[in-house]
Amino acid sequence: MKLCVVGTGYVGLVAGTCFAESGNDVICVDVDAGKIGALQHGEVPIYEPGLEELIKRNVSQKRLTFQTDLPDAVRRSDICFIAVGTPQGTNGEADLSAVMAVAGAIGDAMNGYKVIVDKSTVPVGTAARVSEAVRGRTAHPFDVVSNPEFLKEGAAIEDFQKPDRVVIGHTGERARRIMEELYKPFVRTGNPILFMSPESAEMTKYAANAMLAARISLINEIANLCDAMGSDVEDVRRGVGLDRRIGSAFLFPGVGYGGSCFPKDVKALITMADTHDVPSDVLRAVDQINSAQKRLLFEKVLRHFDGRLRGRCIAVWGLSFKPRTDDMREAPSVTIIEALLGAGAQVQAHDPVALDAARRLFGDRIHYFDVSYDALKGADAVLIVTEWPEFKQPDFPRMKELMRQPVIFDGRNLYELAAMRALGFTYCAVGRPPVRQQ
Ligand SMILES: NC(=O)c1ccc[n+]([C@@H]2O[C@H](COP(=O)([O-])OP(=O)(O)OC[C@H]3O[C@@H](n4cnc5c(N)ncnc54)[C@H](O)[C@@H]3O)[C@@H](O)[C@H]2O)c1
Repeated sequence: MKLCVVGTGYVGLVAGTCFAESGNDVICVDVDAGKIGALQHGEVPIYEPGLEELIKRNVSQKRLTFQTDLPDAVRRSDICFIAVGTPQGTNGEADLSAVMAVAGAIGDAMNGYKVIVDKSTVPVGTAARVSEAVRGRTAHPFDVVSNPEFLKEGAAIEDFQKPDRVVIGHTGERARRIMEELYKPFVRTGNPILFMSPESAEMTKYAANAMLAARISLINEIANLCDAMGSDVEDVRRGVGLDRRIGSAFLFPGVGYGGSCFPKDVKALITMADTHDVPSDVLRAVDQINSAQKRLLFEKVLRHFDGRLRGRCIAVWGLSFKPRTDDMREAPSVTIIEALLGAGAQVQAHDPVALDAARRLFGDRIHYFDVSYDALKGADAVLIVTEWPEFKQPDFPRMKELMRQPVIFDGRNLYELAAMRALGFTYCAVGRPPVRQQ
């Protein structure tokens, strides 16, 4: 099939590349000429495991191309994906300006029947709005389909190629058949394509993110209770997760969720509820708990140093909002580092891939280290903020040797309490009894 994907961010670039990998001709389009120029020169603007290799292969096979010319891409395509950003608007709602601009531009460029697919996360009713916008600009026939994306950054290729399910919200039979054909290679192991109305598909995406965010906020609240009452949330988490009705995924306490999706999607759902006068008490609590949780590690640090952080040197391991990505949008590390800087601390940061993204955010306000251990030199404490695999079994004696004081604040509960005690660290994690050296 011939398709274009408008928006070459984390979703559009992965989707376009994976569709090319299954044999389709794909044109990736973006307004960002710098990004398109880089892609045309073989540079991948984001870090996503496996993506670069897949792009190279499909570019060399001439199935995957990049351009800024949207009308040309639309004219040469039968299916047009909209995968542009839908950031948080001023009142918490999803900002649809990019989606609607692209819809209008597709309408203007139409030269025959097209399936127009909303892949961006968009509020209920957007497929109908896109339809209306396109209809106002062309006499050619078309169908608008809602096809929300469930990939996780850091495992995006695997998720896209082996989805748990594909959700297609459609109204016409013709579009349904085309989408079924397009997704056939991705559902060969029996994982289903679910067909539903566009309104249900749009809500499914928000509901999925809200459920996941709620699990995180609930386990974080339980962790804070454990902290106050002397339980170890790691034991509690295991005890709860083995209950088949509950399950163990997404039940890791920590420094709160971040990223470009959960925070804005929970807020957008709250705004949808407000618009329709429907109470959203759980969603509001999920959001509030998360905002507080992002400050938790900083508050522990502040207490440990009796409220005096001026002149202290604090190392931070992990900046991206989760491992295996360089994405720092809404990352807890940003809240934590801003708070540390605000309290007068000096910050020495390391991340395996997100240092460039961090430099764009913090400039010369913090110090950056390519090697994790270098960030520890002279530090009064180290904060583990992202659970990168390489932080799971570090060389503890070397850490101790490098640091001014052997103090670890672990926002991801990576280490054993007994081991920390034996190694001589002061160790504060989330929802676990602290280890203090006498
Ligand atoms: N990132 C994720 O993990 C993820 C997962 C599932 C769904 N989503 C949703 O997918 C959508 C895209 O997310 P993302 O993370 O890929 O965003 P992103 O910010 O990484 O990328 C968006 C891209 O769209 C481009 N763009 C903006 N306006 C444009 C226009 N008018 N014409 C052409 N290109 C334009 C931008 O230049 C950018 O490259 C959002 O709605 C998001 O909520 C994201």
